[in-house]
Amino acid sequence: MKLSLCPWLVLATLSCTLVADAARILIVFPMPSPSHVILGDAVVKHLAAAGHDITYITPVPKKTFPQNVQQVDVSDNFKAVPTELLDIKTLLEKKFSLSMDVMFQLMNNIHNTTFHNPNVQKFLRDANQQFDLVIAEWMHCELYSAFAGIFNAPYIWVSTVEPHWMVLSLIDEAPNPAYSPDPMFSSNSLPFTFVERVQELWSQIRGYYWKEIVFPAKTNEIYSGLAPYFKMRGREPPNYDDLRFNASIMFGNSHVSLGEATRLPQNYKPIGGYHINTDVAPLPADLQKLMDDSKNGVIYFSMGSNLKSKHFPEELKRKILKMFGGLKQTVLWKFEEVLPDLPSNVHILQWAPQPSILAHPNCVLFITHGGLLSTTETTYFAKPIIGIPAFADQFINVDRAVAKGFAKRVDLSYNMADELGVAINEMLQNPSYTNKVKELSFVYHHRIASPSAELVHWTDHVIKTRGAPHLRSPAISVPFYQKMYLDLLALIVVALLGLRAVVRLIFKKKSDKKVKKQ
Ligand SMILES: *[C@@H]1O[C@H](CO)[C@@H](O)[C@H](O)[C@H]1NC(C)=O
Ligand SMILES: *[C@@H]1O[C@H](CO)[C@@H](O)[C@H](O)[C@H]1NC(C)=O
Repeated sequence: MKLSLCPWLVLATLSCTLVADAARILIVFPMPSPSHVILGDAVVKHLAAAGHDITYITPVPKKTFPQNVQQVDVSDNFKAVPTELLDIKTLLEKKFSLSMDVMFQLMNNIHNTTFHNPNVQKFLRDANQQFDLVIAEWMHCELYSAFAGIFNAPYIWVSTVEPHWMVLSLIDEAPNPAYSPDPMFSSNSLPFTFVERVQELWSQIRGYYWKEIVFPAKTNEIYSGLAPYFKMRGREPPNYDDLRFNASIMFGNSHVSLGEATRLPQNYKPIGGYHINTDVAPLPADLQKLMDDSKNGVIYFSMGSNLKSKHFPEELKRKILKMFGGLKQTVLWKFEEVLPDLPSNVHILQWAPQPSILAHPNCVLFITHGGLLSTTETTYFAKPIIGIPAFADQFINVDRAVAKGFAKRVDLSYNMADELGVAINEMLQNPSYTNKVKELSFVYHHRIASPSAELVHWTDHVIKTRGAPHLRSPAISVPFYQKMYLDLLALIVVALLGLRAVVRLIFKKKSDKKVKKQ
């Protein structure tokens, strides 16, 4: 009797703890960009699997999410991004580059568009909505911290790139530009030359100017517009600065195997690679056979999910195909259109199961735009790369991979086919690139816990400790002038001036006496 009861007791206790631990979490990832959606979906997937009730603000709602995920559709955000941003031809001709002010303007618009979306407004007006935690992506603007303010919950930032000064200043302080690059606006990798060091300092000063001096008028205007949502819940909106520097922790899509050994505050949790599905899906049968049969190896070429290879100019496509045709290897090119007259070793894939291809032992080289998700996967699966960066952080990702020794960089240009051919030959003949990426892959995998386990653990930690105040960096509340001891400097200057005045006075009196005596 006792024995048969036991399993039921265990089950009942288990389900009780599961229910007791389930929290209501709002996940805010409205960036209209496929790679950001992948990162948002992965946060949702892991936390839903951990049993939490999720509400997810996303530009690409899915039918496949489990029942404990509610979605708020912000697909209109795609209309807020200028299309020329993602066109290879424009980038080839260098007609468009992402300057700092354009970037801030664009991100401000996307944040504003999110809050003006009718679905978001309906959701915010619903007095039944309550949350224990908000998790929001940071993209050059802190307005999504308002969700935490409105629902009176602690919040977590997710930073989708390597830790850099703009995100670290939200939870700690800006790192020294002499050894920490700005991944968006400079393409310098360590160690810096004198000129690069000055560029990095200038980048921080300019960024500070745009973000903290020019744009606050606009962001404050958008924030004030949200006041009714606070008031309907019986609260006044807190000061925007108090709110935006109040994150409990920050998840970073980074890991030391992928970037630098940056010094980090206690509440920054590097979980780079958490989006990678650890059960690699099997390849479709035809692709599996093709890769198995490619005894000389397979080269996989993809420009990622943002840039469409069909925007490659016709002439360049032909040259690249001709160059690929001269190789012994099989080439898989992820391309969105059908190409006529293909060389026999080149295969076009309209849709490519990238992780499954990279996982295949015959895959010898990956030609990529160098997006962070791709460079992370390349480290995970230990494949060397040729990077063709197009915009944003792709330049620094590729340069970093080159500096680490597992990559070559080729720039977008009308003559890139020849350069690409040279790079491919060099990489296939020299084993050092593959050896290096295998070393880094070991570092990537040799962790105390998987990145997804860390994501679930620290989320839980923030909920259970009501905002994890014990992890907050003391640096966040010390003003710049105090860190730089400018007050001490001022005191010394004043004291010296005072001393000089006193000394002068004494000498003047003495000389006055002398004058009188004469
Ligand atoms: C900052 O976060 C803590 C912990 O989550 C919370 O108690 C406090 O009210 C927050 N302050 C503001 C201004 O939102
Ligand atoms: C935000 O969007 C609304 C509605 O589209 C617009 O009226 C307003 O001017 C925008 N505010 C800013 C600061 O861009």
